[in-house]
Amino acid sequence: MEAAVKEEISIEDEAVDKKNFKDCSKIAFYRRQKQQLSKKSTYQALLDSVTADKDSTRFQIINEATKIPLSAEVYGIEGDIFRLKINEEAPLKPRYEVPDVLTSKPSTVRLISCSGDADSLVLAYGKGDLKFHVTANPFKIDLVSAEEVVMSINSLGQLYFEHLQIPPKQSYQRKNENDVPVDTSQEYQQDLGLWEEKFRKFVDIKPNGPASIGLDFSLHGFEHLYGIPQHAESHKLKNTGDGDAYRLYNLDVYGYKIHDKMGVYGSVPYLIAHKLGRTVGIFWLNASETLVEINTEPAVESTPTQMDSVVNKQDVKSQTDVRWMSESGIIDVFLLTGPTPSDVFRQYSHLTGTQAMPPLFSLGYHQCRWNYEDEQDVKAVDAGFDEYDIPYDVMWLDIEHTNGKRYFTWDKKRFPNPKRLQELLRSKKRKLVVISDPHIKIDPNYALYAKAKEQGFFVRNHEGGDFEGICWPGLSSYLDFTNPKVREWYSGLFAFPVYQGSTDILFIWNDMNEPSVFRGPEQTMQKNAIHHGNWEHRELHNIYGFYQQMATAEGLIQRSKGKERPFVLTRSFFAGSQKYGAVWTGDNRSKWSYLKISIPMLLTLSITGISFCGADVGGFIGNPEAELLVRWYQAGAYQPFFRGHATKNTKRREPWLFGEEYTRLIREAIRARYTLLPYWYSLFYHAHVASEPVMRPLWVEFPDDLETFDVEDEYMLGSALLVHPVTQPKATIVDVFLPGSNEIWYDSKTFSHWEGACTVMIPVTLDTIPVFQRGGSVIPVKTTVGKAAGWMTDSPYGLWVALSTKGSAEGELYLDDGHSFQYLHKKQFLHRKFSFCSGVLINSCANESAHYPSKCVVEQILVLGFRKQPSSITTYSSDGKEQTVAFTYCAKTSSLSLEKLSLNIGTDWEVHIK
Ligand code: NOJ
Repeated sequence: MEAAVKEEISIEDEAVDKKNFKDCSKIAFYRRQKQQLSKKSTYQALLDSVTADKDSTRFQIINEATKIPLSAEVYGIEGDIFRLKINEEAPLKPRYEVPDVLTSKPSTVRLISCSGDADSLVLAYGKGDLKFHVTANPFKIDLVSAEEVVMSINSLGQLYFEHLQIPPKQSYQRKNENDVPVDTSQEYQQDLGLWEEKFRKFVDIKPNGPASIGLDFSLHGFEHLYGIPQHAESHKLKNTGDGDAYRLYNLDVYGYKIHDKMGVYGSVPYLIAHKLGRTVGIFWLNASETLVEINTEPAVESTPTQMDSVVNKQDVKSQTDVRWMSESGIIDVFLLTGPTPSDVFRQYSHLTGTQAMPPLFSLGYHQCRWNYEDEQDVKAVDAGFDEYDIPYDVMWLDIEHTNGKRYFTWDKKRFPNPKRLQELLRSKKRKLVVISDPHIKIDPNYALYAKAKEQGFFVRNHEGGDFEGICWPGLSSYLDFTNPKVREWYSGLFAFPVYQGSTDILFIWNDMNEPSVFRGPEQTMQKNAIHHGNWEHRELHNIYGFYQQMATAEGLIQRSKGKERPFVLTRSFFAGSQKYGAVWTGDNRSKWSYLKISIPMLLTLSITGISFCGADVGGFIGNPEAELLVRWYQAGAYQPFFRGHATKNTKRREPWLFGEEYTRLIREAIRARYTLLPYWYSLFYHAHVASEPVMRPLWVEFPDDLETFDVEDEYMLGSALLVHPVTQPKATIVDVFLPGSNEIWYDSKTFSHWEGACTVMIPVTLDTIPVFQRGGSVIPVKTTVGKAAGWMTDSPYGLWVALSTKGSAEGELYLDDGHSFQYLHKKQFLHRKFSFCSGVLINSCANESAHYPSKCVVEQILVLGFRKQPSSITTYSSDGKEQTVAFTYCAKTSSLSLEKLSLNIGTDWEVHIK
């Protein structure tokens, strides 16, 4: 078996062989939907069947041809959300409805039925600004907001629903791929893949037959759509064209191809459409294989006549049609009506939860490699960071740390004393992350395997035995995380007495959880494998990894008796994964193009709720040249999850291995990250409590500025920093677009400033990270950087005040113990507000009910855009103290710097500049 695994590894260095993965033409439900829809069947809503209760309004829909009824349910959900569910009125057996993704049963708002005629039903939400307008024949729904039709459903007549059926002849129901089908009748068409489907050497036998669903949505006036990760594609969704679609099917694609719509590790079936004046979202809650077609018809310019008022061409004629298709399940779709980007973010997190508040250390730099060989190696790397004065927080151990890829164990030779190693890291206030994959080596002597086997905790094959597939350890079975009992048991494995050699500084990395099955169809699990509740894998494939991360995060919380925040990184994810930790973009390559695509990939994750995301710094596969590595560190330092990682057989690339100059450049990039930790932490707090993405596409901050809608080579961190990573080799200049006609932007290094709504050519050297602070903002920073975040708890703060065109600025700081849940349970945190106006900077409390003692002081204040040399500066503290302070002023850069201050961060004070 080991040989088989080795073979899998040795082919890894080649480019992705797309033949191993399906394109649309190889997907039977896609072919069926295409074929059927070309025949144009229509559905009719039977409006005399309408019934309503306090939660929902129901009616039937029938297909003109088959006359089989479907049942439609419309819900109004708190926060301006509509939910539409369509299921068979009387299915042969229940169809899968995705559990555990919605944070709770969404609280409903009663929809008021306001007339309509015999051919229509109008359901009004709340005060009636939002309406759901159902037309009976042909069946269509319009979502109307303030008399504007924002979106139509089934206006293209692409509602598609395959009813569960009894197999045409029992003889089709093959038990396994070796039985020869005896039937050759018409219905049994291999091409339609009704009861079985072939792909390469694999045969997918489908005991439930065809069950796919589909629906179209027309977004009126919209040309810009974003979302549906994960694809190595541009941020703005592209038109899909013939035979093409964005695929949502979680797959392990080593060195994935970029600018491709094939599905990779995770799926969030949620997209956002944006136009001037309106943002809406469509969340398609389905965990089976899903395809999304996009077709934008841009506005056609019409020559205005004299009578015409000036109309916005975008609002008049453009339209984007979106068609969702899933292999099984039901239609369960949420329409998030906006109207602003932040409303849509709030609506989505109301359904699926917000970003978990990360422990502070996890926002620092992470050092990973497949593999750090042994304890000695780890110690040497750890010491290297100190020797070269580079901060870092977390050391990572990949699969080789285990005894033969048996997770929760240690390789005794390499890591004879894991606790000793952790104590060393603890003494440096650092942490350890180790990997824990979902496949479990088949080995009766491996206690964890034996226990899981005995309790029936593995996914089963369609014959009823445990599913077996090959992964790192050789032949393995896969824990069935969809079973709550398995999750509970798995969570218990992280308890300190159970997980031998673990301490409270050890955190977890869930990998290969698509799940990856070497030699399986598309390197994953057979779709007819069986999960808890007898559900086929096909029903829930995309949510498997979500459940593993959920159980892991829960386990880490439990081991601390509910006191400590977990940190769990996952490769596979689904809608709602943000509640459990961080996500990274998997096996990228050490190429400039992969550095570049990391930006749109992370932006897409960020707007679909997953703020804590990152890409392997340096690129996982290959050996980056020093310049690329530096540029990647510079980019990664300004992306939410910041981890260097490299695959086996790559050259070592710790930051100090490329000569002094490169070491310095990498050190500077990492230190820049640590300087900004208070800002990062405050942004994560906002993501956690107010659903605001940490890393934001420009259009989110400037929704009224058309020019921002396509930008994906730069982005905002929060609302105050604009980052434009250098992603070209040998760059001497980068063109940076600075948005907003009323804005002013400051180069965070040189303090040069520009008015917004222009593109500026910024000269760059290898030292330069183009970062701009937005006028009108205050950013909290640390003035000194320590070995790790834990060393910086008491170190002083600085405030970067960048004045707006009106000479004012505002900002915030969130601060707590950085690791526990006391911020939640006991309100132990500080939330401070900084505002600058008419020469006075005020530090005030933003949340009176919260408390957290902090000895920290604000030591430096930098004011950018201060036009005249001050004559005096005085500080006033709440205890009545008044003090004149020294300052330096630079007329050339209009910057004012106050040093050696000692103003407590947590108390009220004012600085008056005259
Ligand atoms: C695949 C992951 O994507 C990669 O980061 C990891 O190093 C290998 N698995 C080995 O665990």
